Amino acid sequence: MIFNIQETAAQGFISSVRTLIEGSGKKYFVITFGCQQNEADSEKLRGLLSEMGYLAAESVEEANIILVNTCAIREHAEMKALSLIGGFKAQKRRDPELIVGVVGCMAAEPSVQKKLKEDFHFVSFTLEPNMLHKLPELVYSAVADRKRRFIIGEDSGDIAEGIEPVRRSAHRAWVSVMYGCNNFCSYCIVPYVRGRERSRDSSAVISECESLIASGVKELTLLGQNVNSYRSDMDFPELLASTAELSGDFIIRFMTSHPKDTSEKLVSVMKKYSGKIAPYFHLPLQSGSDGVLRKMNRTYTREQFLKIAESLRESVPGIALSTDVIVGFPGETEEDFLQTLDVLEKVRFDLVYAFIFSERAGTAAARLDGKLEREVKTERLTRLLAIQDGISLERNKPLLGTVQRILTDSEEIRDGERVFTGRTPTNKPVHFTAKNAEIGKFINIKIEKCGAFELYGSEV
Ligand code: SAH
Ligand code: SF4
Ligand code: F3S
Repeated sequence: MIFNIQETAAQGFISSVRTLIEGSGKKYFVITFGCQQNEADSEKLRGLLSEMGYLAAESVEEANIILVNTCAIREHAEMKALSLIGGFKAQKRRDPELIVGVVGCMAAEPSVQKKLKEDFHFVSFTLEPNMLHKLPELVYSAVADRKRRFIIGEDSGDIAEGIEPVRRSAHRAWVSVMYGCNNFCSYCIVPYVRGRERSRDSSAVISECESLIASGVKELTLLGQNVNSYRSDMDFPELLASTAELSGDFIIRFMTSHPKDTSEKLVSVMKKYSGKIAPYFHLPLQSGSDGVLRKMNRTYTREQFLKIAESLRESVPGIALSTDVIVGFPGETEEDFLQTLDVLEKVRFDLVYAFIFSERAGTAAARLDGKLEREVKTERLTRLLAIQDGISLERNKPLLGTVQRILTDSEEIRDGERVFTGRTPTNKPVHFTAKNAEIGKFINIKIEKCGAFELYGSEV
């Protein structure tokens, strides 16, 4: 069900908290781990907190309420979040009224909840990522009753519209279009913590984009765990085309796509609107071996993947491709791994995000035999990265001497000189000098130097 938060009990809790903390100058701080979806959720959390009357804190130390928006994708991410949360124990001792809330994907894991409830007494509440509209109620319980709340399993697959985010950037905006995942790749925890796929109404997405463009946003990123399996009265290519039809000077990106939903229709929309839709595609491969792909439940073969990559390269001139790869999946042989390297050599991605397989309790892969030694996994990762660094550099070299339209993000002083940073339409970071650069504006930059991951240039 899709509902508006303004029509729920949340509004009552928002005003009650507002009344309770009025004039006290209480402040919030939100810390974000994980993917863009979490970044977008954190902006909504900030929006709700400011509606409740909290002010933004400059640092965590001066905060009266701290939210940690967590990621459960790999063990390392969980350890990092837990150790950070553990650090707030001392702050709570100094300030017994401090509220610490754990939000996000870890909060949807029963084992983590139990741990927080039993061993982290200074944690006031947990909140699953699909239940953000419940934040006001939990904050109210903490402020008014000093009650600890650990709700779980209440995720009913709803979508709450009408949460006004406090956005980090005035010129780049995340727009969530769908939530959840139905794919159950055997290694992945996302379907368990984010629930089933559900899509927003296309009219809600388009009008959000429209008002962002009117407010000066220059880059929209449509977000979803499987953004291209979006489906309402429109499919994803139709939604993308409708967004591209909006008038204004802006570009559109989207993340993350599943190869199985990367249709000819999507490719032709990218081709048709090449001025508006950025020539960049993140196409997660995971493995180049058919045997491993099958065990991963990825539902495509290496040949199918290669065809999609080829079709994107042929149809969208200058397109940059990036991917995710997992090394050391249970049972991965040296031959399987070489098949992955072979796909990297064939596709020549601009960028590869490579991860060592991390076992997630409850997933199908956790029950597979053939776990690999840590040394084998790190050795494979090192080999892969060495090869890919060379490919990334080669992919950047043809950009030397070209003029790129850069959206300027930030500015700093390096060796006494003002240096700006922005991104090419193909999503590559560029550092440049310019007299006329302005944060949040496009500027034409000539590329003069390149590394594997960064470009350098100056104003033309
Ligand atoms: N929905 C996206 C991204 C999901 S998470 C997709 O389908 O591609 C981002 C990346 O983390 C995945 O693409 C995968 O490469 C990696 N990942 C997910 N689970 C993992 C695990 N258990 N161990 C190591 N890497 C993992
Ligand atoms: Fe995880 Fe696969 Fe869903 Fe991506 S498609 S979120 S990797 S289960
Ligand atoms: Fe992590 Fe959840 Fe995103 S597990 S990668 S924050 S969907």
